Amino acid sequence: MAEAELAEGAACATQVEGRPIVVARSGGQVFALDDLCTHSGARLSQGRIAKGVAACPLHGARFDLSTGACLSLAMGLPGVVAHETRVADGRITVALSDRPVTAPVV
Ligand code: FES
Repeated sequence: MAEAELAEGAACATQVEGRPIVVARSGGQVFALDDLCTHSGARLSQGRIAKGVAACPLHGARFDLSTGACLSLAMGLPGVVAHETRVADGRITVALSDRPVTAPVV
């Protein structure tokens, strides 16, 4: 996707090799996570992006955009898979992790 299409604090749902991915910008950096909350499968691309964190739109679980770790420790959720991003020549590219999608717990 074009870098100019992704404003600060924005999230974009896309697919890479058929895998749903959310690409988001926070603090000027571009991140990519699996677009599937590990609680009950809501799309993180529909949630809020701020301060390096993606918040699930359904029950509010928070995930670190750089690592995918769940920051809502009381919920006891596994993290989502984070993917490498690269910005070059005005384009954002995502390199998929080898890790499989983390299935939602509920
Ligand atoms: S589905 Fe994301 S917190 Fe419940």
